[in-house]
Amino acid sequence: MNIAIVGTGYVGLVSGACFADTGACVTCVDVDEKKIQHLLRGDIPIYEPGLDELVKKNVKAGRLKFTTDLASILNDQQIVFSAVGTPPDEDGSADLQYVLQVARTIGENLNRYMVVVTKSTVPVGTARKVRATIQEELNKRRVDIQFDVASNPEFLKEGNAIKDFMSPDRVVVGVESSRAQEILTRLYKPFLVNNFRVIFMDIPSAEMTKYAANSMLATRISFMNDIANLCEKVGADVNMVRQGIGSDTRIGRKFLYAGCGYGGSCFPKDVKAIIKTADDNGYSMEVLKAVERVNARQKGILFTKLKQVYGDESLTGKTIALWGLSFKPETDDMRESTALVMIDLLLKAGSTIRAYDPAAMVECKRRLGDDGIIYCKDMYDAVLGADALLLLTEWKEFRLPSWEVVGKAMKRKVIIDGRNIFDPQELEAAGFIYHCIGR
Ligand SMILES: NC(=O)c1ccc[n+]([C@@H]2O[C@H](COP(=O)([O-])OP(=O)(O)OC[C@H]3O[C@@H](n4cnc5c(N)ncnc54)[C@H](O)[C@@H]3O)[C@@H](O)[C@H]2O)c1
Repeated sequence: MNIAIVGTGYVGLVSGACFADTGACVTCVDVDEKKIQHLLRGDIPIYEPGLDELVKKNVKAGRLKFTTDLASILNDQQIVFSAVGTPPDEDGSADLQYVLQVARTIGENLNRYMVVVTKSTVPVGTARKVRATIQEELNKRRVDIQFDVASNPEFLKEGNAIKDFMSPDRVVVGVESSRAQEILTRLYKPFLVNNFRVIFMDIPSAEMTKYAANSMLATRISFMNDIANLCEKVGADVNMVRQGIGSDTRIGRKFLYAGCGYGGSCFPKDVKAIIKTADDNGYSMEVLKAVERVNARQKGILFTKLKQVYGDESLTGKTIALWGLSFKPETDDMRESTALVMIDLLLKAGSTIRAYDPAAMVECKRRLGDDGIIYCKDMYDAVLGADALLLLTEWKEFRLPSWEVVGKAMKRKVIIDGRNIFDPQELEAAGFIYHCIGR
C-alpha cells in the first residue's frame, strides 16, 4: 500500500514511521526544506523515545521516504494523510490554512481515485471544506476524478507516541463511503490484530470526538487543580483525595494529578477551538471556559507561592533554579508549557534563571535566547547559588536527587514542587522549606 503523509511533525513523522513498519510504502512530505534535508541525512528533528531507530530502520528498508514535493508523488498513492499543524487563530479558532493548502495542492494534481484523510485536529465541518477545495481545483482543471475524504483524528501522546500508535486503545475513523472504509480497514488491520477496534462513524462525529476527548482530559486536570487549591485551604491532601476518588471505577485513576497546569500543543488549543466552535454556533461551553480560567491561574501558581515564601523581600536579583522546561516529560516540546509562563514572570520580577531540562534545552534557547537564563549542564548545576528551586516537569531523573548535594549547592533551601513528586516530610527533615500543590 502506498501512503503519503503531508506534514512531517510529531504526528506525521510518528505515523509515517509506524505505517512503514507494517510494510506500507510511506512518503512523508513537508514544506519545511530544512526539516526534510535533516531527515534525508538521518537526523530526527524531534525528541521522541524510539523514533530515531524506527525511522532509520524503515528508511534502510526502502519503505520510508521524504520529500518536499507533494505534486510529484501524489498520483502514486492510495491514501494521503494530512497531518499539518492547526494552530489557534487570534480568535481561538483552529487555523485551517495549512489543511486547505494541502487540499488545494491535491486538487491541482490529482489524476486517480484516492482517499484524502485528515489526521490533524480540526473542527467539525473541515472535511467538507477539504472536499470542496479539492473539487474546486478539479473543476478548474475540468476533470472528473473520484476521491473520498475521511477523518482519522490522532490520539497519540508525545513521549509515548510510538506505543500509542502501534497499540492504540482505539482508532476513530469518519467516512462517507464504503470504498474508503474498506481501504482504511486494510490499513489499520496490522495495528489491531489482537483487538480490532476501529470505530467507524460519520465524519462530523469523528471530528468532534477528538475535541471532546481532549476537552474531557483537560477538564479532569483543571478539576483536580481546583480541588487541590481548596485542599490547601482546608487542610486536606489532594493525593489522598485522588486515591479515594480514583478507585471508583466510574471515575478511574488516570488524569487526576494536581499540578502547575496543562500545556502542550493540543489541550490549550483544542479547548479554545471547541469553545469557539460553540460560540459560532450560538452555544456557550461554560464548563470548558472555566477549565481554561483555572488552567491559566494554575500556570502562575508556583510564582504566587514563591512570592509568599519571600514575603516582603523582592525577587529582583534572586537566582531561581528551574527543573524541567518541556510541557511534560519525555518530549522536547515547549508549546504552551508552564515553564514559558514562569520564565516570563521571573524575568519580569528581575530574577535570574538557572534552567535544566533533559531534552528541551535547545528548544528553550531557540525560543527565548539566553537573556536572563543560564542553561545548566545538569540538575545539580542548576541549583548552584539558587534562592529557590521550582520543579516544573516531572522527568524521571528528578525523582530521587541527592538532597544533600542540592542543599549544599543552594543559597536558600526553598523548593516549590509543581508536580507533587517529592516527599514533604523528607524535605522538611532535610531542612528545606517545601511547598507543593494541594498537600
Ligand atoms: N503533537 C501531538 O501530540 C498531537 C497529537 C494528536 C493530534 N495532533 C494534531 O495533529 C496536527 C499536527 O500536529 P503536530 O504536533 O504534528 O504539528 P507540527 O507543528 O509538529 O508539524 C506540522 C508540520 O506540518 C508542516 N506543514 C505545514 N504546512 C504544510 C504543507 N502545506 N505541506 C506540507 N507540510 C506542511 C510543517 O512544516 C510542520 O513540519 C495538529 O492538528 C495537532 O493538533 C497533535
